[in-house]
Amino acid sequence: MPPMSERLSRLVRAIAGEPRPCAFVDLDAFEANIQRLLVPVRESGKTLRPATKSIRNPSLLRRLGEREGVRGLMTYSPRETLWLAEQGFADLLCAYPSVQAADVDALSAASRRTAVRAVCDAVEQLAALDAAARRAETVVGVVVEIDLSYRPVERLHLGVRRSPLRSAADAVAFADRVATFPGLRFDGVMGYEAHVAGVGDRSVAKRAMKLAARRALERTRRELGRALEHRLAVFNGGGTGSVMWAAGERALTEITAGSGFLDSHLFDHYVDVPLVPAAFFALQAVRHPAPGIVTCTGGGYIASGAAGEDRLPIPVFPSGAALLPLEGAGEVQTPVALPRGATVELGGTVLFRHAKAGELAEHFHEYLLIRGETIEARAPTYRGLGQCFLG
Ligand SMILES: Cc1ncc(COP(=O)(O)O)c(C=O)c1O
Repeated sequence: MPPMSERLSRLVRAIAGEPRPCAFVDLDAFEANIQRLLVPVRESGKTLRPATKSIRNPSLLRRLGEREGVRGLMTYSPRETLWLAEQGFADLLCAYPSVQAADVDALSAASRRTAVRAVCDAVEQLAALDAAARRAETVVGVVVEIDLSYRPVERLHLGVRRSPLRSAADAVAFADRVATFPGLRFDGVMGYEAHVAGVGDRSVAKRAMKLAARRALERTRRELGRALEHRLAVFNGGGTGSVMWAAGERALTEITAGSGFLDSHLFDHYVDVPLVPAAFFALQAVRHPAPGIVTCTGGGYIASGAAGEDRLPIPVFPSGAALLPLEGAGEVQTPVALPRGATVELGGTVLFRHAKAGELAEHFHEYLLIRGETIEARAPTYRGLGQCFLG
């Protein structure tokens, strides 16, 4: 990969003539990231399942699916799962449960087209899904989610709030429960280590927490693997921030990654995830409100999660540009402070990276796919295709 500054200048030249705001993907970087995430997974004999939530662009999903070692997709919404199945995507694992009829009916309809598995952790979810599967005269696979949060002492919960099921015994009992529903089939387990994969490790305290948490969750996954050995078609784990070590964990059959393919900036805070930024958005400079400041049109694309400065996009071109602390990224205008000596003419371009990979796609109809200095293709996002699954 050429140095970042050279790459960014080349990308700015590639989009000259495009109206801004626009968003684009550097295909060379995207492909380098696929390689980096795929190699450890393939070498350990597992498959890589891309997380659609972190991509939201069918053309990029197709490019991923063509790689040897990539299998299926992890989807984030039942209606999205059906929509993808209708477009020919296969082997879909919907990782977020729902109990409403529209959603479970969508999953059942999808399962008539391809292998569909739904992640569940409550009997209410099973009952709703079973009813839908029977209405559609199909059988839907169920993958049980296990909570892998780190709890070194009572009442301390380091991790996300997803599943209430915590132990191998919980998983076995739930698997047995699945078997009592005629419209469902127990297919496996998902244990996502969000507190390891989704937390940066540039501070000693975070690194220590992650190491201790890793030991505990590896133990739980090992126990789960043993307890359900002959019943697991799928044991899914991992995320961009943990691919490198999760790939080596024997209990898992497949690893999920999403954000790492585009390398949004929250992943800059990981020391052992060697990825290259691949997705950017470009704004037009329209004002010079004061020396050293340009104001651009658009830019207020703030990431979800606990609100904080790290959820803001970051300007990356010209190098050294920064948001103003009192304005941040604005709804319609975003002022940027330029480093000494740098200038951006009115009509010029400032490039940014989003904090999260998938959410950028909610703001743009298409991604320009750039190879070298050329726009190779235009790839509509979910939004560009008229889809908004969480809206
Ligand atoms: C179940 C599950 N697995 C894996 C991931 C990892 O995704 P990413 O690689 O985009 O961080 C997520 C993201 O939230 C997830 O919910």
